[in-house]
Amino acid sequence: MTLGLDLERVSARYQAELQLFAECHPRSAELYQENLKHWLYGAPLHWMQQWPGLYPIMVADAQGATLTDVDGNNYVDFALGDTGAMFGHAQPAVAAAISHQVRHGSTLMLPTEDSLWVGKELVRRFGLPYWQVTTSATDANRFVLRLCRMISGREKILVFNCNYHGSVDESQVEFDAAGQMIPREGVHANGLKHDATTRLVEFNDLPALEAALAHGDIAAVLTEPFMTNVGMVPPADGFHAGLRELTRRYDVPLVIDETHTISCGPSGYSGEHGLEPDFFVLGKCIAGGIPTAVWGASQAMAERIWQVLPHFQPGQAINHFGFGGTLAGNALQMAAMRATFGEVMTAANYAHMTALAERLREGVQALIDKHRLPWHVTRIGARVEYLFMTHAPRNGGEAHHARHGLIEAYLHLYLLNRGVLLTPFHNMLLMCPAATAENVDLHNRLLDECLTQVTG
Ligand SMILES: Cc1ncc(COP(=O)(O)O)c(C=O)c1O
Repeated sequence: MTLGLDLERVSARYQAELQLFAECHPRSAELYQENLKHWLYGAPLHWMQQWPGLYPIMVADAQGATLTDVDGNNYVDFALGDTGAMFGHAQPAVAAAISHQVRHGSTLMLPTEDSLWVGKELVRRFGLPYWQVTTSATDANRFVLRLCRMISGREKILVFNCNYHGSVDESQVEFDAAGQMIPREGVHANGLKHDATTRLVEFNDLPALEAALAHGDIAAVLTEPFMTNVGMVPPADGFHAGLRELTRRYDVPLVIDETHTISCGPSGYSGEHGLEPDFFVLGKCIAGGIPTAVWGASQAMAERIWQVLPHFQPGQAINHFGFGGTLAGNALQMAAMRATFGEVMTAANYAHMTALAERLREGVQALIDKHRLPWHVTRIGARVEYLFMTHAPRNGGEAHHARHGLIEAYLHLYLLNRGVLLTPFHNMLLMCPAATAENVDLHNRLLDECLTQVTG
């Protein structure tokens, strides 16, 4: 038995599931063959090829918590665009706002009145006084890091092992078996000498963090408040207090990236737990699928930024600033964010999503007990993940070692073939406001069935 399962049976069952997948998805197969002629990896984004099965299912429609594919199969979608659609597909209020704005100008490189509403709402919800918009969370992180370098005069950023903050070059590192920092597996260093740009420590390791900060060369610490991209890694008791105290003591801006942990509540993990970041990054789900992210700065950081990059004065030569993008802050993003923050990211919706996530967590825990699996399940707000180790990992390295490609492939494909989508590359499930208790119970019943085939 490996991780509580009979691996030979997992392997045999997986082959049978691949066969079933092919039988149920003939039209997706045809379209994929056509797509291979045009797209480098058979789809507009290479990640789309990395779902369970032989090729991506081709989507015909998405509404609320459900998808329909071109073969007429229906799915309960717990992947939700891996958080981009966390508030549901084709959300009516957001769809109405987008379709209104698109008829009145989408991108103007000028503000609309919606920007006033959204700016006030960001301040009210997240507490930081000044904000900017980008088209992705990756970009928001990149721009914040650039500014941190400008205001601190230092070059390095500190990230935690097995982080993910988008394709931010400096963060694409990991520890090798000897504990040396190397470029992340499968990622080219892109011309960077990571020794010059990055310091890497394990999450929850305050002594290592302090030793790294003591070098005096770190421009920013960039972290999720609760790691979510390598399985879920909770902050240990006292970690956030220590992180905040040390970053203040060494005068290093603390950048909290809540792109995933916004699942915790209407103002994210930081709001729920009273964190005090210097910079705050949020993306993916805040504009109903219109590519949008925001970053906010504290009063002290804004003042330091204005010292190096003052407000524009009429008659001045134009300054490029090194961050931005012509599409960033556009009218469509503003309309979509206004509708999302105003009508969808409500306390009532979060209460519903969180209650469903808890129902799912309890169901999965009962299955772990029933099948005597050395696994655990974690929930933060509307997000649930199960991982193949008995307790929550203390850091990214530990979580990484608990992954198992074949077991994950089998579980995901078994569920997909019966109408339930998990987030690819994870055993992660997100609840949206349109999800129901029946959706959750279907997942739990199918997981039980699929485990029964390979245990005991
Ligand atoms: C914590 C975190 N930050 C940033 C990103 C990057 O977001 P995007 O792909 O929208 O650039 C991700 C994506 O998964 C993420 O999980």
